[in-house]
Amino acid sequence: MSNRQRWATRSGLILALAGNAIGLGNFLRFPVQAAQNGGGAFMIPYFFALLVIGLPMMWLECAIGRLGGKHGHGHAAGMIDLLWDHPAAKYVGSLGLFIPFTIGIYYVYISSWTLAFSVFSLVGSYSGLTTRAEMGAFLSAFQGVTVNNHFGSVATAYLAYLATLGLTVSVLLGGVARGIERLAKVAIPTLFLLGAFLAARVLMFGTPDPAHPDWNVSNGLGFVWNPDFAALADPGVWVAAAGQIFFSLSIGWGIIHTYVSYLREDDDVALTGMSTVGLNEFAEVLLGGTIALTAAVAFFGVTATEDIANGGAFDLGFQAMPLIFERIAFGNFIGCLWFLLLFFAGLTSAVAMAQPMIALLEEGWNLSRRRAVAIVAAAFFVLTQPVIFFHGYGFLDELDYWVGTVGLMVFALLEVVVFAWIYGIDKGWEQINRGAAIKPWPLSKPVTKYLTPAFLATILIWWLISEVPAKLAMEGVAPEARPYVIGARLMVLGLLLGIFALVRQVSANWSSESGEAGK
Ligand code: ALA
Repeated sequence: MSNRQRWATRSGLILALAGNAIGLGNFLRFPVQAAQNGGGAFMIPYFFALLVIGLPMMWLECAIGRLGGKHGHGHAAGMIDLLWDHPAAKYVGSLGLFIPFTIGIYYVYISSWTLAFSVFSLVGSYSGLTTRAEMGAFLSAFQGVTVNNHFGSVATAYLAYLATLGLTVSVLLGGVARGIERLAKVAIPTLFLLGAFLAARVLMFGTPDPAHPDWNVSNGLGFVWNPDFAALADPGVWVAAAGQIFFSLSIGWGIIHTYVSYLREDDDVALTGMSTVGLNEFAEVLLGGTIALTAAVAFFGVTATEDIANGGAFDLGFQAMPLIFERIAFGNFIGCLWFLLLFFAGLTSAVAMAQPMIALLEEGWNLSRRRAVAIVAAAFFVLTQPVIFFHGYGFLDELDYWVGTVGLMVFALLEVVVFAWIYGIDKGWEQINRGAAIKPWPLSKPVTKYLTPAFLATILIWWLISEVPAKLAMEGVAPEARPYVIGARLMVLGLLLGIFALVRQVSANWSSESGEAGK
């Protein structure tokens, strides 16, 4: 289709894909997952998952995306339908619309906290708070969960949300090259500069508290980099590592497909995919790992760092880090840079989450970009209301568990089976190699066919047995929170069915080409 939008430059596409992948997951989720799973113990399964799932799946998704674009599809529903001539194909592919759209609902909101905290840091709103409990109270009052002398309501968070949604919309209105690519060209280099500066600053912390000589930078680095082979027997560590690879590389979402669909038929995807993985891992392991984890160990010690991580991704970023900035010279300014780094990471990923649905509306109903963006923005706005107002009842966490954790793996497993077994790994491998600027790692062909699906299926079965029953039974959920948790589940189900219905409607226009690419 000649009238499809295109990336303006190759470097722009790589930066946009990096912006898509590098997000809050790299700087908040990664350090927390690593700390919760024993630091160095986490890194072996992490790198294993990167090679066995991350890189092969990135290539696979890039190949599917470019093929979809050739047939005029900018979303996974149309793309999977091209690979598999079966009525179920479009519903499998619909997961690649449902997942980013649903995560986008809360991701824009979380990104907005980073914007607000960059201002709080600069103007000293939290100066004088010295304990985790005080900083935690500041955060929960900001989120509207409690009320204190800092915040009487969720109004400040609401304003930050509106500003962030507005910025997201203004980027999306510019379209692929003039909106998303332009943002990435500014935000990603800035993010790397900020990250490098902050990591260098953290490495200079030394031993900040002489009363605790073992709380220092080298023990912080050792915590991440000293391998612990004993922990490899724990399946939970493997599952967490794989989950992090998916979240962070944006694999199993449907958003890599969409970005790559704006390439031309013979443009390279092998080097593009590999560069995206490389940039993401640099940001995640070297910058994300060094900044928050090393800083936390240097200021609080390993035990407290693990304890902070057990409180979740937000405790490390929004409680522990501000306390550290309070204690260093120019901390207000450096804290502001930390939150701006998070904000750039969040914004460049948030726009990616909206784009598949925009593509569906533009392509399915011939809507103008303005109209498609307006509809997606309005839907985000309405659906984020319960996320904002029911935050204290675990609404956001529930969405994140089913969609941001389990959903990614389900979609990834289904798509790798379609690609490697139904479409066929030989044709798939040809697609990956078409126009390739590098030779993809040959082992990744059998890995994609056998090891990736086997690994994913094992993880899902383990989950079904060990976690899902307790989760479904709402074990550990306070009685007053249960109606909200059920509400979140109904919202997930409603969105899934609603997206199925939309895709069913538009698929009438492309059903004649179902399975076309497989012929
Ligand atoms: N991959 C993006 C992140 O890490 C969504 O946050």
